[in-house]
Amino acid sequence: MERILVIGAAGQIGSELTLALRKVYGNENVFATDLRIGPKDLTETGPFHILDVMDDKRLIHFVIRHKITQIYHLAAVLSGNAEKLPLQAWHINMASLLNILDLAKEVEDIHKVFWPSSIAVFGPSTPKVNTPQLTIMEPSTVYGISKLAGERWVEYYNHKYNLDIRSIRYPGLISYKTEAGGGTTDYAVEIFYEAVRNGAYESFIKQGTEMPMMYMEDAIDATLKLMDSPKENLSISSAYNLAGISFTPEQLAAEIKKHLPDFKISYKPDFRQQIAESWPQSIDASVAKNDWGLNVKFDLAKMTEVMLSEITKKIKG
Ligand code: NAD
Ligand code: SER
Repeated sequence: MERILVIGAAGQIGSELTLALRKVYGNENVFATDLRIGPKDLTETGPFHILDVMDDKRLIHFVIRHKITQIYHLAAVLSGNAEKLPLQAWHINMASLLNILDLAKEVEDIHKVFWPSSIAVFGPSTPKVNTPQLTIMEPSTVYGISKLAGERWVEYYNHKYNLDIRSIRYPGLISYKTEAGGGTTDYAVEIFYEAVRNGAYESFIKQGTEMPMMYMEDAIDATLKLMDSPKENLSISSAYNLAGISFTPEQLAAEIKKHLPDFKISYKPDFRQQIAESWPQSIDASVAKNDWGLNVKFDLAKMTEVMLSEITKKIKG
């Protein structure tokens, strides 16, 4: 029987991935943990604990006490926040991953680990359109450097210790349940809240900046598919490229206007503009499609419709 530990479960991805894992493995077998208390549906449908991934001693006790067999390590400092405190972000992102990798090596019961990478592993010298799985990677953000170093460590542990650690380079994720956690792609989540609340949004990303994005349901589905695939089907032992939809702020605004004709967007780019410009515009995910059947269901129109309707329900009841 699988017993799964989710670290960073109260965040944008964790708050949805944990519930999806509970559906597959049973509520009582999926242990949600975070530094902060999670939403009610996490705390009330299964075990929830406050746990700091940096506390390696408590972590190993937790894993042994609860007979954990798989870990999903989602805690990290995202791109925008990381630029404000680069050394702290580097420390948290790297030390937490190394804690988990070492646990996987030391604790025999742990047979699978998931750790997300990001499109931030790419940099200004990477081909921007249809970015290949294997290409030039010179990230210019501390977040991207930590994700690229993380990918190298994942591959190293996989090969050196014959472990099964799997990873995806998520694009910007769009969801309505939990607000985004300090990234550069967050504008594409904030815009929906502001459209519903005020009918207007001032974007910190400027017109014409195309970034790769994905609706959360597709990202969760991809994560479960990758984790469920037979190991022998996987040709990548670092992190898989993942692609959903690519759009610019004005394309997203135009789609929102179809539902809210008076919606207005204005632009006031900040430091995150430079980060956005260093990332790809679109991603080639053909290896993920071939190896484990990545299948994306949400396009821009479908995602916009669901986001507006769910956020309207959330805000206006
Ligand atoms: P988030 O910031 O919304 O959630 C992270 C969670 O980790 C938070 O709830 C936070 O409280 C928790 N956390 C922070 N420090 C912790 C610690 N020391 N111990 C335990 N918990 C701690 O982030 P997210 O968007 O859910 O991202 C999850 C993972 O996916 C991260 O590794 C991120 O880099 C990656 N990722 C996210 C996106 C995206 O668009 N959301 C894209 C690419 C990659
Ligand atoms: N959405 C994330 C960020 O902007 C990408 O990893 O930081």
